[in-house]
Amino acid sequence: MLGATALAVALPKLSTRLALSRAKHRSLAGHSRMARRLAAFIPFYEYDGERFFRSDDAPAEIAARRQAGFLRLSGLFRARFAESVRVTAETADGLSDLQFTSAYRVPFQFSRTVREHLKTGGFVQSSDGVTVTDLDGNRFYDLTGAYGVNVFGYDFYKDCMDRASADARALGPVLGAYHPAVADNVRRLREISGLDEVSFHMSGTEAVMQAVRLSRYHTRRTHLVRFCGAYHGWWGDVQPGIGNPVPAHETFTLEDMHEDSLRVLRRRRDIACVLVNPLQALHPNAGVAGDSALVDSSRRAHFDRAAYAEWLQRLRAVCTERNIVLIFDEVFVGFRLAPGGAQEYFGVRADLVVYGKTLGGGFPVGVVCGRHDLMKRYRDDRPADICFARGTFNAHPYVMTAMREFLRRLDTPAIRACYEGLDETWNGRAARLNARLAAEGLPVQIANLSSIWTVSYTQPSRYNWMFQYYLRAEGLALSWVGTGRLIFSLNYTAADFEAVADRFVAAGRAMLQDGWWWTDPALTNRAIRRRILREMLAQRWQRF
Ligand SMILES: Cc1ncc(COP(=O)(O)O)c(C=O)c1O
Repeated sequence: MLGATALAVALPKLSTRLALSRAKHRSLAGHSRMARRLAAFIPFYEYDGERFFRSDDAPAEIAARRQAGFLRLSGLFRARFAESVRVTAETADGLSDLQFTSAYRVPFQFSRTVREHLKTGGFVQSSDGVTVTDLDGNRFYDLTGAYGVNVFGYDFYKDCMDRASADARALGPVLGAYHPAVADNVRRLREISGLDEVSFHMSGTEAVMQAVRLSRYHTRRTHLVRFCGAYHGWWGDVQPGIGNPVPAHETFTLEDMHEDSLRVLRRRRDIACVLVNPLQALHPNAGVAGDSALVDSSRRAHFDRAAYAEWLQRLRAVCTERNIVLIFDEVFVGFRLAPGGAQEYFGVRADLVVYGKTLGGGFPVGVVCGRHDLMKRYRDDRPADICFARGTFNAHPYVMTAMREFLRRLDTPAIRACYEGLDETWNGRAARLNARLAAEGLPVQIANLSSIWTVSYTQPSRYNWMFQYYLRAEGLALSWVGTGRLIFSLNYTAADFEAVADRFVAAGRAMLQDGWWWTDPALTNRAIRRRILREMLAQRWQRF
């Protein structure tokens, strides 16, 4: 009898647990704890001398071509980026972020040699149109998009910032009481989001924290759901895997665009909210595609707007049915895809929407918009049970006036025109560049979500990460994640884009010529990964 009762209690729990396991993506990114454990196991080792150029067992003649190309680029970088590199080197010792980003531009086995010989400056002095200029006076077409902030072109933001300074000057840094711009921003953001209330924060990370905290407060449930690979800032609960030294106990990472995940949402009673970063539509279940992880050519991406919209609709329905708060994290894509953001673009409404980046008109910001019942930070019937969220610099006058200017300009005919035929423009550009790359026999293809692009490689290679340096040599500026993410601002004209496309193809040609894309039937992605695993195991036991 006792046994039967215990079984009756245990079975549903077990089945709920199994459903959760089934809803995890099979990749490591889907298994945060395992990923963290494995990351701690990976030993450092590196390729030096000849092995740097022959990690794929290419013939000596190919290795020699690679070496010659590498030395040529090294000389070119030394001559062309002298001042930028000098200031970078002088500062790096005291700037942890710079040390981190330069160490993680390429797979770690190659990193030290690359850092020694292909020094890239971490400084720029000015921006103009779609270009940035470094300390040596070199102009680059900007494909960094300032981490996504730059939607309308740098000059647009300079104007917003100038106007903001003029408008906020009389008040200065007074905090607590609001600048009148706040009233305008609240009105406009309510219209844009279609939601009742707004709260202002200093970064996207903070705004996401607040959206999750509110969800937990109002649902009285503990857990948040995020989808495999999705970035939501660097707060611990939304970054349960590698990069966060402590486990996130109240986070479930589920498989994106999968029925099993909906099953978990239907079944569990501890889920407060689901976080969606619509950027994942470009590469569901895959993380930020940095070139430091580009050890082979298995990186893939493909955007299917209809399929993602349908997934969001299904998610919406389950969240409504289960009273789970659906949060759209539009920090990256908001205002880039459509004036009404991802809600408008995919035709699905969220309960809370988080914006950031571009909305600050060039200044740092995070914003939560939400339904009144979810945004409320206290309970009328329990006065001591509050949901606290303050921040010294929230609603800073200069940020608020820049945001007001951003929102004002969003309504101008010139900016409205940017959105007309936006996807056709960027899909057409991607398709034309892909056709050119294919016609040249280059093993490189682009996938895009509107103006957000990612590069994939069509034949197995251990050296794809070199492409970022050939692109740089052609005057294209990439962020530290390299070819994993290229971000165009919407002020790229057809001529600007053609110039980028020409340089892109020229970079590919040079890289091909220098032998980096040598291939062999035995060189498969799987063989590459196996070999790296063997090297790691051998290194771990000191036999490598
Ligand atoms: C979707 C998303 N959410 C949140 C964040 C965090 O924003 P911030 O870097 O302003 O803290 C980012 C930043 O890239 C993001 O892309």
